[in-house]
Formats: sequence, structure tokens, C-alpha cells
Amino acid sequence: MTKQLFVADAERKEGFAHVLLITTGSVASIKAPLIVSELLSYSKVKVEVVATKASLEFYDHKQVEAAGSRVWLDQDEWKGTFTIGSPILHIELRRWADVVLVAPCSANTLSKIAHGLCDNLATSLLRALAPTTPTYVFPAMNTFMYEHPLTSEHLRIVQEVVRYEVVGPIGKGLACGDVGLGAMTEWRDIVQIVVDKFGLIRSNPLP
Ligand SMILES: Cc1cc2nc3c(=O)[nH]c(=O)nc-3n(C[C@H](O)[C@H](O)[C@H](O)COP(=O)(O)O)c2cc1C
Repeated sequence: MTKQLFVADAERKEGFAHVLLITTGSVASIKAPLIVSELLSYSKVKVEVVATKASLEFYDHKQVEAAGSRVWLDQDEWKGTFTIGSPILHIELRRWADVVLVAPCSANTLSKIAHGLCDNLATSLLRALAPTTPTYVFPAMNTFMYEHPLTSEHLRIVQEVVRYEVVGPIGKGLACGDVGLGAMTEWRDIVQIVVDKFGLIRSNPLP
């Protein structure tokens, strides 16, 4: 996964929707390649993915790259050659983004957002985000994690103080075998939110 430097001005394309997908350590990260390839089936869309270390247990970055996007990791921030004026990845990515999707959002990352922690690329980026950048959080966790009293408090802060849009979770049989609230919103509905927001049109409309 060798990558070039990422500089927002050079990467942004006039008239395009720039979608930043953050994946975290929930089983629902398995859907990331589907979200990316579906988004990229529309015209004038660019997608970049920021993955927490845990989220990469659930999908292969190569699937996202094959779909036409890139996966940025914590270690991409630290090249060991920083000089004044060098681009800083979490700042460049937040400058680039027109919309941010945290899909899925683990209980851990939800808690970190609510407390203002910024100890990895994903949370540094979120902490540096302009409040005008629309940000959607799609929680996904075990039902008991979701029903833990701290979760509702974190969700309240994320909505009322940080002012992100929280969508879901939904109820269904979870990967862990429990049944109840906690599953991530269906991946197609996540894509649809972006499609509706930017009025996206399919590259090759179905006949
Ligand atoms: C197999 C497996 C599945 C997991 N699924 C979830 C999940 O759906 N939601 C969640 O909040 N945490 C889940 N976890 C726990 C997180 O991966 C863990 O809390 C991790 O620290 C999250 O890190 P991150 O928020 O930086 O991605 C799971 C862990 C394992 C081992």
C-alpha cells in the first residue's frame, strides 16, 4: 500500500462530490468495499477511505483499491520526514471532504468522538473537521453495547454538542448471534443518503 502524498487542492475535482468514508472495528466494515464501489458507480464522485486498525480485520484494502479508491491508515500520517510546510494527512483529508461518513461507527470510536479524543487518523481528522462539513455517523455494535448506558450519552453528545447526524442502528440478527438493535443501517441506504444529498446520477444508467 505505497501511496503518494495527499494534497487536498490537487486531489479535488471541480463539480465532483468528495466522499470520505471512515471505517471502524465493527463487523459491518465488511460492507466497505460495497459502499465504495456503489458510490463510484455514479458520475462525478470521488471516494477516499480512512480505516482504523481494527476495521481492516473485516475487509481487504485491495477490494477498495480495485473499486477505484484508496485506504488511508494511521501509519500514512507518519512518514518520518516532516518539515514545516509538508502536507499533514488528517488536515488534507478534511480539507478535501465534502461529506464524511463514519460507517460503521464502533462503540469505541463513538466514545472517542464524544470525548474529543484524537489518537488515530480517523479521530484526528474528525476533530479537525470544519463544523460546516456534513458528517454522518452509523453506529454498529452488539445489542448490549448499544444498550449500555454510556452509549446513549455518547450519542447525545455526538448529536447535540458535536452536531453530527446519527443514522441507525437498526434491529436484526447480529453477526455475534444476538438479536436486537445494533446493526449498521443497510449499506445501500447509506449510499442513498449521499446520492440524494448531491443529486448524483449513475454513470451507466440501467436500460
Ligand atoms: C470479531 C469482532 C467483532 C467486533 N464487532 C464490533 C462491533 O460490531 N461493534 C463494535 O463497536 N465493536 C466491535 N468489536 C470491538 C472493536 O473492534 C474494538 O472495540 C476496537 O477497539 C474498535 O477500535 P476502533 O474504534 O479504533 O476501530 C469487535 C471485535 C471483534 C474481535
